[in-house]
Amino acid sequence: MQSQEIRLKKRPVGIPESDDFEIVQTQLPEATDGEIVVENVSLTVDPYMRGRMIDRKSYTPPFQIGETLTGGAIGRVTKSNSPDISVGEYVESHFGWREGFVAKASAVKTLGNLQAPASSYLGVLGMPGMTAYVGLLGVGEFKEGDVVFVSGAAGAVGSAVGQIAKIKGGTAIGSAGGEDKVRHLTEDLGFDHAFDYRKGHLEKQIQEGAPDGIDIYFDNVGGDHLQAALNCMRPNGRIPLCGAISQYNATAPVPGPNNLTIAIGMGLTLKGFIVSNYNDMRADFDREMTQWVTSGKLKYRETIFDGLENMPQAFVGLFDGTNTGKMIVNLQ
Ligand SMILES: NC(=O)c1ccc[n+]([C@@H]2O[C@H](COP(=O)([O-])OP(=O)(O)OC[C@H]3O[C@@H](n4cnc5c(N)ncnc54)[C@H](OP(=O)(O)O)[C@@H]3O)[C@@H](O)[C@H]2O)c1
Repeated sequence: MQSQEIRLKKRPVGIPESDDFEIVQTQLPEATDGEIVVENVSLTVDPYMRGRMIDRKSYTPPFQIGETLTGGAIGRVTKSNSPDISVGEYVESHFGWREGFVAKASAVKTLGNLQAPASSYLGVLGMPGMTAYVGLLGVGEFKEGDVVFVSGAAGAVGSAVGQIAKIKGGTAIGSAGGEDKVRHLTEDLGFDHAFDYRKGHLEKQIQEGAPDGIDIYFDNVGGDHLQAALNCMRPNGRIPLCGAISQYNATAPVPGPNNLTIAIGMGLTLKGFIVSNYNDMRADFDREMTQWVTSGKLKYRETIFDGLENMPQAFVGLFDGTNTGKMIVNLQ
């Protein structure tokens, strides 16, 4: 079987460009004993992949030039030499930006009976949904009645953060780029207050939604968002540091917030986290999130590109706000 895949051609400088990637035709090997053949159905592009394109030490090793980009994928098994997986089953894998692959059955996770569309296992029922869940409830130590401000609120993680806060009895405030996203947050997702961070004064806009301050700032953006949120925190507030997308394409060192000393007097906790270190919350996440999503209590959106060749464009779109909800590339 032939399979196309996308490789890193050169390291992006600043915002990635299509020319940083190349599409390559490959021939898959025959599946041997214990192996399966998978045709991918939906692939994900995620902001963290930008960090892996930089040649530096981090929690995951950097992509090498010429390497196929790896990330989450949902695929369907088309051939199985394993007693553990049947043809037709959906599986989650991390072989990434490719049409198909051959692997040991043990290298993928079977999804069983799908409770929701396959692509949702890359978003609200997958890694970004889990990030929202553990970041808010675990790292952020959310308590009923908390006022939560989340940046990147119309994205995959942010849109789940605000809705989980609401479901658990809190107040949700979100920032996003553009009027349509702001309307989506308040009208479709039930946020109490939302604003366009590209317009107006960040701090004043947070205060409009939270005149008495915020208990949790869920930081997806960093930079000026973090600085403004610090000025709005209540005593003993928590700041889960989830991401800093405003800085991922920086070509020079970025200034830090100039008001970090607020954390001392206010007794704030700023805590960075990586979702994969919170697998002890997996069973609770699977149970609660599946129930919320299938009952319609928690809504999600996807922005879909079609075709492997459009993966670079979808990836770059994460940095200019092309997506509302999870950015997905469908292959079938
Ligand atoms: N710690 C972890 O384990 C973990 C796991 C997953 C994700 N993350 C982080 O969580 C954050 C959200 O990830 P996601 O997958 O849900 O992505 P996403 O929010 O679905 O997509 C990225 C969004 O970021 C916003 N954005 C881009 N550049 C920006 C800038 N300069 N300033 C402000 N907003 C900007 C855009 O929305 P607007 O139109 O609103 O600007 C864009 O739609 C990222 O920082 C990511 O790295 C962390």
